[in-house]
Amino acid sequence: MASNRENFGSRTTAVLAMAGSAIGLGNIWRFPYMVGQNGGAAFIIVYLLCAVMLCIPIFIAESIIGKRTQQSTFSAMDKLAPGTSWKWIGLLTVFTPLIILSYYSVVGGWSIEYLIKSLTFSFTDPAVSRDAHSAIFGSFITSTWKPLILHTLFMAINAVVVIAGVRKGIEKFTKITTPVLFLLVVLIMIYSLTLPGAGAGIEYMVKPDFSKLTGAAMLSAMGQSFFSLSLGVGCILTYASYLKKNENLMATGLYTSVFDVLFAIIAGFAIMPAVFAAGIEPGAGPGLIFETLPFIFSTMGASAPMISNIVAIIFFVTILFAALTSSVSMLETGVAWLVDEKKMSRAKATMILFGGCWALGVLCSLSYGPLADFHIFGATIFDLCDHMTSDFLMTFGSLLFVLFVGWKMKKADVKDEFTNGGSLKGNTRIFNVVYFFIRFIAPVVIVVIFATNLLEKLHLL
Ligand code: TRP
Repeated sequence: MASNRENFGSRTTAVLAMAGSAIGLGNIWRFPYMVGQNGGAAFIIVYLLCAVMLCIPIFIAESIIGKRTQQSTFSAMDKLAPGTSWKWIGLLTVFTPLIILSYYSVVGGWSIEYLIKSLTFSFTDPAVSRDAHSAIFGSFITSTWKPLILHTLFMAINAVVVIAGVRKGIEKFTKITTPVLFLLVVLIMIYSLTLPGAGAGIEYMVKPDFSKLTGAAMLSAMGQSFFSLSLGVGCILTYASYLKKNENLMATGLYTSVFDVLFAIIAGFAIMPAVFAAGIEPGAGPGLIFETLPFIFSTMGASAPMISNIVAIIFFVTILFAALTSSVSMLETGVAWLVDEKKMSRAKATMILFGGCWALGVLCSLSYGPLADFHIFGATIFDLCDHMTSDFLMTFGSLLFVLFVGWKMKKADVKDEFTNGGSLKGNTRIFNVVYFFIRFIAPVVIVVIFATNLLEKLHLL
């Protein structure tokens, strides 16, 4: 069936789809608060190092598997190493993004709620305190029905895009939304940088404080870089399987990584100066975008409430679309597996996975309300899904992908795919360096992260 498989129309649209997958809540929600908690510029430096030394090699390894086979995870592994157990890794990586999707979609639902709030001009009253904003957020996420309805809506939008297919759905959607996201985040950054008192935020972003850079902070930087580039779970592999055969993997990998990192940094410059201008601690944590920012929007608006509420609208539109272009890639990874392997129709595959993710997402959503006391291994269902995937399954998947390409695949085949049979002269020249990173550097560093995570979890560190 590989012959009539869909593909992305051009390099530009392929990169926009991949960047759409990479740019998400990870960049705009997670990255700024992690920078806040882990020493500002020092964290950013480690993050950048990880992006170059680890993420690009992993990205290339995943895309080599996808482009070579033009199959999704399970069948790709089976095709490259027939009769071995490697294919089960393919299956593992089909399920990881679906688990991520379940809780990601709950947060996606929250962003719809906040978009509605901003559209109804709810952030114009400077008298509402930060605690009051936290209380509003708290009572929303702990309620039963509203978050569930919005989670369902978020999932439904994903299903519509994925059913429409690679060209007519994903490509068409991300081709518009990804550039718009950049435009919007730059607008917010300009607004934020011009606020009185923004200087302290800028300083925080550019002046490294190495004393805050603990081992744990460095580990967070690495984990964050994986999450942000959607690595280790087969999303990039699946998107790469829709690349044209003559596409240059170094170029797609480089462009996607640069866009992703750039977006995170712009988001940092959009958020941190506003946080400082409002006199809030930079390490405000995960509540940053749903508690702190609404407060900032309403206080900043004391003199011009409409303008700051319009910025709020732009901000929550950005978050919603950033989340959607990422979640679509998670759903597509599973759908591609059912289509390739089980020869199912796109619509049927999407509906089945929609059902499964929706149900798990319901449990994640309720774990803030009626199921708050229901713990598995000491964590709520939402936190369990989050930690299990971002701490373990993603790292594990990334490791297996680089080991597969570095040690199981034949070097000649890897080179052939990376250089398009030797026709890409630039890639031929740098092949040995890239191969060394895939074979040695990435696995060693990943094992260190993995082991440290495990030891921390077992309270041995
Ligand atoms: N990278 C996205 C973000 O930054 C999220 C994402 C998409 C993701 N696909 C993924 C995370 C696969 C982990 C695995 O928000």
